[in-house]
Amino acid sequence: MKRVTLTQYLIEQQRSAGTVSPELRLLLEVIARACKMISHAVGKGALAGIGDVVGTQNVQGEAQKRLDVVANEVLVEANEWGGQLAAMVSEEMDEPHLIPSRYPRGQFLLLMDPLDGSSNLDVNISVGTIFSVLRVPDGCTSIDEKAFLQPGSKQVAAGFTVYGASTILVLTVGSGVACFTLDKELGSFVMTQTGLAIPADTGEFAINVSNMRNWEAPVKRYIDECLAGKTGAREKDFNMRWVASMVADVYRTLSRGGIFMYPRDAKHKDGRLRLMYEANPMAFIVEQAGGAATNGRQRILDIQPGALHQRVGVILGSRNEVERVTRYHLEK
Ligand code: F6P
Repeated sequence: MKRVTLTQYLIEQQRSAGTVSPELRLLLEVIARACKMISHAVGKGALAGIGDVVGTQNVQGEAQKRLDVVANEVLVEANEWGGQLAAMVSEEMDEPHLIPSRYPRGQFLLLMDPLDGSSNLDVNISVGTIFSVLRVPDGCTSIDEKAFLQPGSKQVAAGFTVYGASTILVLTVGSGVACFTLDKELGSFVMTQTGLAIPADTGEFAINVSNMRNWEAPVKRYIDECLAGKTGAREKDFNMRWVASMVADVYRTLSRGGIFMYPRDAKHKDGRLRLMYEANPMAFIVEQAGGAATNGRQRILDIQPGALHQRVGVILGSRNEVERVTRYHLEK
């Protein structure tokens, strides 16, 4: 079989679909190169103390692991000098990082969760990097937080990696979803799936059930119906999966269907996951694969963000199931 590398795929998209400008292609290649470095570091595991707590907290008040900090530095350093970006924001940085004046400034903005699922690092469970690319708004001359506050529907590209048994990169530039696997000997991402399509129906759900007592009624109703299986209203059995690394849970959902939920609840009043670094890029990818993504009431990609680090409830995956949960919320 002919091997198509990430570079070839992007050049092809540039030529045929017109969705990738040369600047965007370079940016995505630099992000992918940084992810290879992070993959290498994750692979060293305890030998490099990747899961050690470093004694600092991120803006969300979460304890940072050594690799949270390293992954953030790798991505910032790799993307600073290329000339494609005007600024970057990250789950691990309080404020936007503007491109230093010694480098040319580009037309794109990068948003990233350098190491999603890092609470799983010390137990050797898959983690990953999530990223989203926006354009600098027209007429915007000085970049600050406001430049980033665009709804997810404005994303020009989004992707995520999973550093698991193999390292994979899932990417959309707005014309479907492709998946690449890292050939560690050659050091290149090779396309292993294209035109990813999430089945509209599913028999598998993913949710942190320890939050059950805090759920809102529509979520409780949906999960109760799944648990009732063949004997309940749905008249079919469901299975449950929960990795607690969003990247791994969403990749499974993309690969074989399913519904992934981290809804808002009495404890997480605004939701648990971050709109700009987690929900928006994943929603873009899931929609491009024919699935759906809402916060229970509204399409995630339509939400107008009010702050960089804002959180949101997330329900995404197989279209018919996401529409059902959303309907339960709206009926209420
Ligand atoms: O936001 C980071 C994250 O690790 C996600 O990858 C995951 O879905 C979620 O948090 C798990 O959080 P909790 O263990 O609090 O349910």
